Amino acid sequence: MSAHVNQQRLWDSLMRLAEIGKTAKGGVGRIALTDLDRQGRDLFCTWARDAGCEIRTDRIGNIFARRPGRNPDAAPVVTGSHLDSQPLGGKFDGAFGVMAGLEVIRALNDAGIETEAPIEVVDWTDEEGARFAAGCIGSAVFAGMRPLDEALALIDADGISVETALDEIGYAGAAAVGDIDFKAYFEAHIEQGPILEAEGLPIGAVLGAQGQRCFMVTLVGEDGHAGTLPMAKRHDAFVAAAEMSLTLEALASTYEPAAVITVGHVRVVPNSRNTVPGRCVFSIDSRHPDEDTLERMEAEMTGTMQAIADRRGVALEVAPVTRAAPVAFNPVCIDAVRQACQARQVRFIDMHSGAGHDACKIAKVAPTGMIFVPCERGISHNEAENARPEDLATGAQVLLDVMLATANN
Ligand code: GLV
Ligand code: MN
Ligand code: MN
Repeated sequence: MSAHVNQQRLWDSLMRLAEIGKTAKGGVGRIALTDLDRQGRDLFCTWARDAGCEIRTDRIGNIFARRPGRNPDAAPVVTGSHLDSQPLGGKFDGAFGVMAGLEVIRALNDAGIETEAPIEVVDWTDEEGARFAAGCIGSAVFAGMRPLDEALALIDADGISVETALDEIGYAGAAAVGDIDFKAYFEAHIEQGPILEAEGLPIGAVLGAQGQRCFMVTLVGEDGHAGTLPMAKRHDAFVAAAEMSLTLEALASTYEPAAVITVGHVRVVPNSRNTVPGRCVFSIDSRHPDEDTLERMEAEMTGTMQAIADRRGVALEVAPVTRAAPVAFNPVCIDAVRQACQARQVRFIDMHSGAGHDACKIAKVAPTGMIFVPCERGISHNEAENARPEDLATGAQVLLDVMLATANN
């Protein structure tokens, strides 16, 4: 039994979706739980219903589209990813995984194939963490890794909570979060790195993902007049943050294999040309494949920042936002991806993910695997993010083969 994905239909769906939140340079800005996110969700639901799916939305806004199987009591084989994007993101990060799942269902419909277990496609709420600081909100709650109440209470920079934002876009669903078991979960995603393209390979069978610790740092110094306050008397919170950023950059390269540390969000208060900034809030995203190393990095980062803060006379507060341990995916799921590649004579390599994914959370509660496809020059979290239609179709085909085999065995 086999079904074939339709490359053009997959590409057209991705391009149509990318119209929602389209940016000036051809990327996508579809931040979680905004009206644009709502429009993306609405389109997904419409397409899924047209393909014969039943839609279920849970209390954290995760949307599940189910194609029924022969056995309604069987646990579903699930795929998906996220429809939200970075503020200046690309057309494929997340969107590919959801559209690939939809293409699996459409292709099964075309071929008239009924599976034993149901097939589901899910859009997880706020994977990116660009708005509420914490990423993978929906999948983390689903996997029991973040309490629902805590997730609903997270606030954005304007003080709007996840709960309010979900209500506003009409996606605060009724279903209990995590109320179903998955037979297996497979997520297709662009690699977001340069390895597959450099090797000339269409597929990565993902073994797992590196760990991640994220923090919000608040520095409180003293506002002052930019013309009258002598340099030596300043407690400039932004300059302290700048020194900390450079120190963290240097620190990353002292770990083996090299760690990655990013200061990506900075808020300077009052943010006025002629006031010495008395307050600065910034984010730290630190990642490494080894948990013990992450622990040592955290201790060193905190100690180094405290020394800078003390020397500059600013108060330092470091609030942990995310602590995600390195993840190893399920050996059976990894093998299923490899076998699907071999059966179609598609070349692949085993690889680790540098990025975090909803799959990393779901791996806690279900057998999980991931399929990577190459993206141009490995560029992601960038409006220029690009991928070739044929590579996306290959990834979707491998996803279909893996899901079909899993749903029927
Ligand atoms: C996901 O976008 C991540 O931060 O790895
Ligand atoms: Mn993603
Ligand atoms: Mn992303």
